[in-house]
Amino acid sequence: MKAIEIRKKYLEFFQKHGHVVIPSAPLIPENDPSVLFTTAGMQPLVPYLLGEKHPEGKRLTDYQKCVRTNDIEEVGDNRHLTYFEMLGNWSLGDYFKEESIAMSFEFLTKELGIPVEKLSVTVFAGDEDCPRDEVAAEAWKKAGILDGHIYYYGKDDNWWIAGEEGPCGPDTEMFYDTGKPACSADCQPSCDCGKYVEIWNNVFMEYFKDKDGYRKLKQQNVDTGLGLERMAMLLQGKETPFDTELFSPIIKKLEELQKVDNIESRRIIAEHLRSSMMLIADGGRPSNIDRGYILRRLIRRMIRHLNKLQIDLNELSTLIEINVENLKEMYPELEKNKEIIIATMLEEKDKFVKTLANGEKEFQKAINKLQETKTIPGDVVFKLYDTYGFPPEVTKELAEENGYEINLKEFDELFKKHQEKSRAGSEQKFKGGLAEQTEETIAYHTATHLLNAALKQVIGKDAHQRGSNITVDRMRFDFNCDHKLTDEEKKQVEDLVNQWIAEELPVTKQEMSKEDAIKSGAECMFIEKYPDIVTVYSIGTVSKELCGGPHVNNTKELGRFKIKKEESSSSGVRRIKAVLIKD
Ligand code: SER
Repeated sequence: MKAIEIRKKYLEFFQKHGHVVIPSAPLIPENDPSVLFTTAGMQPLVPYLLGEKHPEGKRLTDYQKCVRTNDIEEVGDNRHLTYFEMLGNWSLGDYFKEESIAMSFEFLTKELGIPVEKLSVTVFAGDEDCPRDEVAAEAWKKAGILDGHIYYYGKDDNWWIAGEEGPCGPDTEMFYDTGKPACSADCQPSCDCGKYVEIWNNVFMEYFKDKDGYRKLKQQNVDTGLGLERMAMLLQGKETPFDTELFSPIIKKLEELQKVDNIESRRIIAEHLRSSMMLIADGGRPSNIDRGYILRRLIRRMIRHLNKLQIDLNELSTLIEINVENLKEMYPELEKNKEIIIATMLEEKDKFVKTLANGEKEFQKAINKLQETKTIPGDVVFKLYDTYGFPPEVTKELAEENGYEINLKEFDELFKKHQEKSRAGSEQKFKGGLAEQTEETIAYHTATHLLNAALKQVIGKDAHQRGSNITVDRMRFDFNCDHKLTDEEKKQVEDLVNQWIAEELPVTKQEMSKEDAIKSGAECMFIEKYPDIVTVYSIGTVSKELCGGPHVNNTKELGRFKIKKEESSSSGVRRIKAVLIKD
């Protein structure tokens, strides 16, 4: 079964079971500055898992585009991907363990036709925080899982949380037996010999963890995630995702073009090409910081491997075209953004080619001096990065080819210091969700706070920000609202903002505990995600918001506020595009 058919079956199945299909959120989260990329289907749903009402109801399903880069070094083996698609279904305080398990079992065995003998499941073994999950185990037995196919594991295996803090809970995982011989007498799903492959994870999310420990959430949720590429691979009886239709046209073309054979390089190219194309389609651009830096690393690592296979780099646009053709049905955004994808990739390639020549010379010089230790110290790796644009993994790969090692730990420390130095310029900016920090973007940022406050007065106090995006020449602001704004409402909003600008209100900043901030009525999108001490920006007495800044000092710096467009963003969410005009 092809990946696209699996996706279709999944969404239809859950729709049949009362779920509303919601669109995939972009890979670059609009509302959540606490993470680089969308890494799981639940991520855009956090506010709803915490109890906020979702406009589409309590049963949701989607396919979610995800990028995880902690495994970037592993890509090239036979299973790691930086980009992948996660199919998911959610109960937001609706059904719980039993129904979730019954649906998963039915989907796997009936819709995908997986023989029950091939399925094993794991459930939470219990500890001082949460009891042994007999409810899940019973539900599996009732659904039809075979005797001896249920395993109990502790928090390491059967507990899900994204990072250190947040919504979490015990999970139950489903495993597919590939039919490979067991590696030992006690080979189990937890074993990574390759016999068992995890295919689906249902999290019973009823806790919230913070530094004080676990507390119960308002509601019992279910959050599930099924990796599409892996499922396609298994159902097609393939050894790796690279052997499925998702990658095979690119792999085949690489085989045609290459002058040197290297399967690992082909996989790295195929994988990084897809993930960088997906990132660019969702607005990603290469740079030296944050998200842009990850994208730069992906593209540069791919180019290194094209060089390794001695493929003419002018073939890059052909490879992009092949991927667009192959994937456009699944991801129409690739075709829509084809021009910008090609332009961005080629520009980055040209930049890298230039630095590569210089960097390789520098690299050779450096290693000639290090013949004794055969280890390249962190400062050399950093210089290659900082001056010659060599991502550390490129240096590492080059080093390994020459029989050297690199001191990555030292590099990481230097890199961190470097990032801290440019903190005001990068991290801070990133925290505030601003792509670029200029006089214009700062003014727009303050204007979003005024708009947020004005909407509350005109639409109602329940109108909250759902996202925003700022460039040097406009702002975009999403908020919940169940109707199209009338001309009268738009005018009122515009007039209010302009009135506040005319009043020359001071913008002030205060640090306080999160608790005090909430008590004081400060506006905030994701209260759970903020640290204990937060910054609150006030504009006169009209607006008060938790925010990383920066802002103008006085509203008189803003100019005239004008709404250019008001449109639907998604169900129950409206979008305003506005500009500031300096007369
Ligand atoms: N959040 C869980 C995961 O990422 C299930 O969706 O695996």
